[in-house]
Amino acid sequence: MSFRELIRSRRMTRDFGPDPLPAGLLEDLLDSARRVPSAGNSQGCEFLVLDTPAAVARYWDTTLPEPSRKRFGFPGLLRAPVLVVVYADPHAYVQRYSEADKAATGLGVGTSAWSTPYWLVDASFAALALQLAAIDVGLGVLFFGLFHRAPAVAEAFGVPDHMEPVGVVAIGHRAGEAEGRSGGRARRPLADVVHRGCW
Ligand SMILES: Cc1cc2nc3c(=O)[nH]c(=O)nc-3n(C[C@H](O)[C@H](O)[C@H](O)COP(=O)(O)O)c2cc1C
Repeated sequence: MSFRELIRSRRMTRDFGPDPLPAGLLEDLLDSARRVPSAGNSQGCEFLVLDTPAAVARYWDTTLPEPSRKRFGFPGLLRAPVLVVVYADPHAYVQRYSEADKAATGLGVGTSAWSTPYWLVDASFAALALQLAAIDVGLGVLFFGLFHRAPAVAEAFGVPDHMEPVGVVAIGHRAGEAEGRSGGRARRPLADVVHRGCW
């Protein structure tokens, strides 16, 4: 599949089969994901990889305990054999921008100096690259948010306090269609989102 076909046909998957990924494949997908561009080449994106039944079960026990689980609309999501929580390290950016070649930017003084938190931008790039790499080899993915459960996940898996999550990528074999509540919204016309020359 060409990149053009991939990006135009990709959809989120919320119904997975339980089969594990072929050996070595996840490592390869993560290796692709970490190659995205990053501000100052800071490379402050890190991945919490949950790829054993026990680790995945722990994630869901932490974020979706009973009785909420019984009411959950996408039971097939809980079968995904792999969950990757994508984190951004703001310290890596402040450290990098305090180095000699970047000090003049003033961004090395602390995170409050950054008008755009590029650690989140770069980690989001990595999350998308991970999704596209997985789709490219025929797998299904769902990107979903942690919302208010971020502290509980950090505590359950020993994530350092300063790491900021951008979300979770579930990866596995597609079992069926399970469109989300927002999936039926029409794509906005290209002319509405492109402002050529001026807004
Ligand atoms: C930042 C972000 C957060 C999302 N959070 C969720 C989520 O919590 N649950 C979910 O089912 N889908 C989630 N999605 C998936 C979106 O609902 C989905 O991408 C959108 O409806 C468009 O559908 P498509 O990706 O299949 O084209 C999220 C997507 C993004 C980019």
